[in-house]
Amino acid sequence: MTPTSILFVCLGNICRSPMAEGVFNKILDRENAGTRFRVDSAGLLDYHKGNLPDSRMRSHASQRGYELVHRSRPVTKADFHRFDLIIAMDEDNIKGLNRLASTQADASKILRMADFCRRMQATHIPDPYYGGDKGFQHVIDLLEDACEGLYEKLAED
Ligand code: 4NP
Repeated sequence: MTPTSILFVCLGNICRSPMAEGVFNKILDRENAGTRFRVDSAGLLDYHKGNLPDSRMRSHASQRGYELVHRSRPVTKADFHRFDLIIAMDEDNIKGLNRLASTQADASKILRMADFCRRMQATHIPDPYYGGDKGFQHVIDLLEDACEGLYEKLAED
């Protein structure tokens, strides 16, 4: 069976989307489902291209048992052909992705990460870049909830 391919997208691809990738990959390891999915992340900006995730994000991730090794890269039009689902962290990300989408079929791949939260109430995954420790911890809490919801949804399909 062809794996379902998922691209997580945020603004810089150094905080939220590589964290989402790390959380989702850990669920796949736990569920022995690594061959059923292909997961990557990307950003609307290319300022941080080639960089590891922000050191604060990596430090908070490590405290929860995640090692983030992704290197930042910008999202491209080609990603709409390479991925089945493109999952955005907030409304601005969705607007940026819609500008890159060439067709209605491309646009229909764009989903909102917070829509997969089940325990927590959220409309978006807030940008933690200019905040403190609590912001990073909150991002991980939301992403753990949303990734479980996403996995459950895709596993039942
Ligand atoms: P992210 O956070 O979108 O979660 O990776 C940000 C990282 C960098 C910037 C903004 C948000 N920046 O403006 O450089």
